[in-house]
Amino acid sequence: MSAIEQPQPAALQFPALEPPRRYLFGPGPSMVHPRVYGALAKPIVGHLDPYFIQVMTDVQQLLKTAFGTNDGATLVISGTGSAGMEAAVANFVEPGAKIAVFANGYFSDRLTEMAKRQGANVVRFEKAWGETYTEDEAREFIRREKPKVVAYVHAETSTGALQAGQAICAAAHDAGALVIADCVTSLGGVPVAFDQTGIDVAYSCTQKGLSCPPGLSPMEMSPRAMDFLRARTSPSRSWYLDLKLIHDYSTVSHRYHHTAPISMFYALREALLVIAEEGIENRWERHRRCHRSFVKGVEALGLRMHVPEDHRIAILNTVCVPEGIDEAKVRKRLLDESDIEIAGGFGPLAGKVFRIGMMGPLATEDNVQFFLKEFKKALNAEGYSN
Ligand SMILES: Cc1ncc(COP(=O)(O)O)c(C=O)c1O
Repeated sequence: MSAIEQPQPAALQFPALEPPRRYLFGPGPSMVHPRVYGALAKPIVGHLDPYFIQVMTDVQQLLKTAFGTNDGATLVISGTGSAGMEAAVANFVEPGAKIAVFANGYFSDRLTEMAKRQGANVVRFEKAWGETYTEDEAREFIRREKPKVVAYVHAETSTGALQAGQAICAAAHDAGALVIADCVTSLGGVPVAFDQTGIDVAYSCTQKGLSCPPGLSPMEMSPRAMDFLRARTSPSRSWYLDLKLIHDYSTVSHRYHHTAPISMFYALREALLVIAEEGIENRWERHRRCHRSFVKGVEALGLRMHVPEDHRIAILNTVCVPEGIDEAKVRKRLLDESDIEIAGGFGPLAGKVFRIGMMGPLATEDNVQFFLKEFKKALNAEGYSN
């Protein structure tokens, strides 16, 4: 066999890892702060090491400000936002219990599916993707259904709509129900106001408003939710996502439950420190300013927003695709020519909206203007003129 025909060692058959540097203007993952990348490279310690236990404790403390709570129990689930969703459903929706779901987008469908798999009796209040619920509608639905649990999506990523939660929570509590709120696309970017709203169980992710890589799901539980958990006699059907066990490992005994992803906790701690240094209120205001500027810019291009003004998510914009324009071609052009990632719509909104995020480090006036310039170029190249 000649030297040329020698099989190569496996490592040489693959190029070195050189991911392209994209501008992540989509619905997530969002851009990661250089300090967070730095944290990921720090030496790992064991998951029961006192140093790591302190990191977990710091993360829980820092998350309370982002969630807007003083007396909730904070946990971080090892898994993406869907793991938080599944933990919420598996622990708070007992088999046979009735759960009332506000169903106006893709992620309320996922909640529905998870609740069905837990053996729950699911009732849904259906609305078109992009619509929200008035206080009266929310109250009437809950009074009529008398559920044990109510679930809604605070920031619906598939539509760009933000659902106010106060009336939902008040009506649910009047009916003796707990409220689960999906805060995957709100935490860190727009106020969750956990205590003020009256949420009982909120879950989120790391890769959107917190500007961290995907991999963890922060969760917050009210004292009422913790009482429910303690009183629950049947074990959760999920062992890995059993919140009693995870709570014990992460805040009480620190006895082994699973091997926590150490580096991701470092990253989340650093991301939360970056947020704390800016100040969470300042961060929300920065995102709001960029959102207003972005909307002004797209309207000046003759484009329309999909969601009415008062119900938009400041960090995630859904822009209607103009008549006759192929949105996939616009997105491809942005990626190929400008290294910009945005997303399209799916389900009933397939081909009808662009989903454009302005999150974390990208939420600056310069970046809004940069994006609008590239977006206009791509739209024009695909035949759009205004
Ligand atoms: C509102 C909402 N809920 C849940 C999820 C699921 O999160 P993940 O993809 O991190 O599992 C997402 C993901 O985008 C989301 O936007």
